[in-house]
Amino acid sequence: MRDIKTVINENAVLVENALKVFLDKKSDTTLYKAMEYSLMCGGKRIRPFLALEFCRMFGGSEDAVLPYAMAIEMIHTFSLIHDDLPCMDNDDLRRGKPTNHKVFGEATALLAGDAMVFSAFECALSNEHVSAENKLAAARELALSSGADGMCAGQMIDLEGEGKKLAFDELLSLHAHKTGCLIRAAAKLGAIAANADSDAIKAADTYGAGVGLAFQIIDDILDKFGSTEELGKPVGSDAKNEKTTFLTFMSAEEALEYAKKVTGEACAAICKYDNSELLIGFAEMLLKRKN
Ligand code: IPE
Ligand code: IPE
Ligand code: MG
Ligand code: MG
Ligand code: MG
Repeated sequence: MRDIKTVINENAVLVENALKVFLDKKSDTTLYKAMEYSLMCGGKRIRPFLALEFCRMFGGSEDAVLPYAMAIEMIHTFSLIHDDLPCMDNDDLRRGKPTNHKVFGEATALLAGDAMVFSAFECALSNEHVSAENKLAAARELALSSGADGMCAGQMIDLEGEGKKLAFDELLSLHAHKTGCLIRAAAKLGAIAANADSDAIKAADTYGAGVGLAFQIIDDILDKFGSTEELGKPVGSDAKNEKTTFLTFMSAEEALEYAKKVTGEACAAICKYDNSELLIGFAEMLLKRKN
């Protein structure tokens, strides 16, 4: 099996270089500068990793998936810019740097996020290495996972829940939407780029749902017990905003056990495929992350 840490770095470089090429072709406006600031200032690039590795596992080419990997990272970065705004979580640090609105002001940060959504669709729909039908399937996936039945729905549940205690199944729905939807989409876009069959796309979806939930559980734990230096974002944001998180219902140890359980279910969905070890190892590694 390829070494996971090496592959993570290689995939991050691949998507960052592609994002740089995309941005270098654009004009030097304040809006593009604000977009570039958040897109190119670090980030673990987990969603592009999933897109690339699902595509490889299902026998697809790197060229076919790269525009989709860029698109999902753009949608994710837009969600972070808006998530940090004063009207949402009101945070000052992201990816180890001042948040977009701290540098460019709220109105520009809002527009940089808005514009990034459309750049994501520009990337996906300009993919020259797949069929027109494939691009449509990818664009549909991006739209559904991001919008009012996807990530945005999760952010809405999150905001409406501030200052209240959500029920446990409401928390599961919150996490599934705000974080799960884009992680599921990343895995599915990889499968779509590889022209995988519907069973394979379903397996990618199930893996993404489990990994996405585990990812947000660990995010909740790190928000309380992590370090700002390692995370590159403020700890204590959830308490400050009176959010319901996994730690509202259980201890950090119990939450970690829950995350391990759903990660196991995620991995079970893909273990029948050749070369699934890397994605299984990746899911297990995410449970131990410190940032
Ligand atoms: C942060 O996502 C927001 C959540 C969904 C928990 P990441 O932890 O993937 O953030 P970056 O991309 O590495 O900055
Ligand atoms: C945000 O969840 C998820 C999205 C941005 C869609 P959080 O608010 O917990 O993310 P962080 O902790 O600020 O990264
Ligand atoms: Mg938030
Ligand atoms: Mg936040
Ligand atoms: Mg958080």
